Amino acid sequence: MGDNTIYRASTTAPVNIAVIKYWGKRDAKLNLPTNSSLSVTLSQDDLRTHTTASCSSTFSGPDTLLLNGSPQDVSGARTQACFKALRGLRAELETANPSLPKLSTYPLRIVSSNNFPTAAGLASSASGFAALVRAIANLYELHSSPTALSQIARQGSGSACRSLFGGYVAWDQGSAADGSDSLAREVAPASHWPEMRALVLVVSAAKKGVSSTTGMQTTVATSALFRARAEDVVPKRMAEMERAIAERDFDAFARLTMRDSNNFHAVCLDTEPPIFYLNDVSRAAIRLVECINAAAGKAVAAYTFDAGPNAVIYFLEQNAGLVAGTFKTFLGHLDGWQTELGNKLAGQAGVAADALEQKSVDVVKDGVSRVILTSVGQGPVKTDESLIDEKGEPVV
Ligand code: DP6
Repeated sequence: MGDNTIYRASTTAPVNIAVIKYWGKRDAKLNLPTNSSLSVTLSQDDLRTHTTASCSSTFSGPDTLLLNGSPQDVSGARTQACFKALRGLRAELETANPSLPKLSTYPLRIVSSNNFPTAAGLASSASGFAALVRAIANLYELHSSPTALSQIARQGSGSACRSLFGGYVAWDQGSAADGSDSLAREVAPASHWPEMRALVLVVSAAKKGVSSTTGMQTTVATSALFRARAEDVVPKRMAEMERAIAERDFDAFARLTMRDSNNFHAVCLDTEPPIFYLNDVSRAAIRLVECINAAAGKAVAAYTFDAGPNAVIYFLEQNAGLVAGTFKTFLGHLDGWQTELGNKLAGQAGVAADALEQKSVDVVKDGVSRVILTSVGQGPVKTDESLIDEKGEPVV
C-alpha cells in the first residue's frame, strides 16, 4: 500500500539589515563573498516571510512555489541548489534508517507570504530563502544546525544566510573553495542588546535599478576602490563592530554603521558604469541624522542603505524620542506609526526644529511614502499555522 500522507511543516523567518555590508562575490556559483559581513535581525512582528513546505507521493509534476499568491520560477540555479542540498541531507537520513518515508523523492509544494508590501523595495530575498530552507529542513526532520543550514541558504541569496539567526549575526567569508567555511553565526542574541530599534523610511515603491547580484559583480570587475574595501576596510571593521556589540557601545556601532554604508555606496559610485542606489531623499535623510546627532552632542542615530534608496536608521529605545520622535514631527501623517513602539513616542520631544536643515526636512517629507518602526528580533520560528491544507492545496 502506498503512502498517501501529505507531509507539511511551517516556519517564519526574519529580514536582516547589514551594518557591515556584503558586496562582492569570489565565486558566483556557490555565492561565496569577497568579505565578511554583519547584520541585525529585525523583528518578525513587522517584517517576516511565512512559509509552508509540503511533499507527498500523491503530488504530481515538478516542485512548485507560490509567493503571495503568485507562482514563482523555481528552475533557477539558486533555488535548485537549495532543493538539491536539502534533498541530499534527507536522503542520507533515509539511507541510514530505511523505515523512514522517502520524502526526498517526492515533489515539493511550497507556499509563502510576506507580511510587508513586496513593493516597499525591502530585501525580501533574505527572509524568503531563509524561510524556504528552514521550512524544508523542518519538513525533512533534518538535524542540521542553523549554521549548517546557513551554508544552504547562502546559495539561494547571500544575505539569506544571516536570517537563520536572531539578534546580531556575522557571515564569515571563509577561504575554502567549496564554501564549507562560508557560514553565518550568532555574534549575540537579541536579548544581549534588546534596546536596539530601527526606523525604516520607505523612499521608493519602484523596483530597484540594478540588482545586487549584477551590481556587485560589476563592482568586483571594475572598481579600483573595491580591493581596499574588501582587503583592509572591512576586516578591521568586522572586529571593531563585534567589540561594539559585545560592549553595547552604541557610539562605535553607529559610527561604524554609517561609515560602512558610505564606503559601500562610494564603491558603487566607483563602479563602471556607476551604480546609484541613493537618491536625493536618501541624502536628505543622511543630513537629518547628522543634524540629530549634532543636536544630541553624540551619535544617537545611525543610517544605513542597501541596494536601494530606503533609509534604515538604528537607535536605542532610550533615544526613541530624539530619533524616531524627530522624524514623526514631520512624517506623522504616514502609515506605520500606529504600533506599540509608535504609540510610546507620544509626548516624547524630538530635537528642536531649528536644529534640522529645513531643505532636507522638505525633501524627506515629499519623498517618503511610509515608515516601519521596528526592533532587533528573533531568528526563524516554527509555527503550526499552515499555508497548505490537509489535501495539499494552498490556503487562501
Ligand atoms: C547591499 O544577498 O541580495 O544588501 O547573494 O546576489 O542574492 P545575492 O545578493 P544579496 O545582496 C545583499 C547586498 C546588500 C548588503 C548586505 O545585505 O550585506
